[in-house]
Amino acid sequence: MNPFEKDARRKIKGVIIPVDFCGYPVNVSDLRFLCDKYETWIIEDACHAPGAYFVDKTGKGVKCGNGEFSDLSVFSFHPVKHITTGEGGMITTNNIDLYNKLILLRTHGITKDPELLIDNHGGWYYEMQELGYNYRLTDFQAALGNSQLRRATLGIEKRNVLAARYNEAFKGTNILTPSVDKDYYHAFHLYVVRLKRG
Ligand SMILES: Cc1ncc(COP(=O)(O)O)c(C=O)c1O
Repeated sequence: MNPFEKDARRKIKGVIIPVDFCGYPVNVSDLRFLCDKYETWIIEDACHAPGAYFVDKTGKGVKCGNGEFSDLSVFSFHPVKHITTGEGGMITTNNIDLYNKLILLRTHGITKDPELLIDNHGGWYYEMQELGYNYRLTDFQAALGNSQLRRATLGIEKRNVLAARYNEAFKGTNILTPSVDKDYYHAFHLYVVRLKRG
């Protein structure tokens, strides 16, 4: 369970935004402990890491942005990313209050939900209850994204094969290759190297 769900409306003092940089997952289970202590949210930037995961203390794989430890997680579907919708992205959360807020903001802050309406004149009636915007993905983009999902897992597997090949090729050179701890599955959006000095 997302620990935040215990008290979804509590006041928070700040936000920590860990980035699963290059596709290497941040261990958000460790961060959760700190964030609970200092009353901050975690907004995980998982734009580089759909499909990547780390293994938590119980031995369970935790996929980036699955909402178990982060309050919100963001993904980008820009064409250079693992899967694309042309432009746009996705936010995931296990927190029902945040989910409802996002749904409202996505469509200009407009609701027709009878449970949320202040007045209700039936039929066409709706209310603009927040200053939202148009954050909607078009149906065409959603169809593209849906088809992209079929290649997502294979794409990451291929990237891992290529990364291993690069690691091998750079052995014995002055290029330091990215190392991945055994409890992590890297999505390799980027393969970043460093040069040994001296
Ligand atoms: C780590 C990270 N976060 C967020 C973004 C923003 O994504 P978008 O361009 O889809 O808004 C990017 C884009 O490259 C990114 O690399």
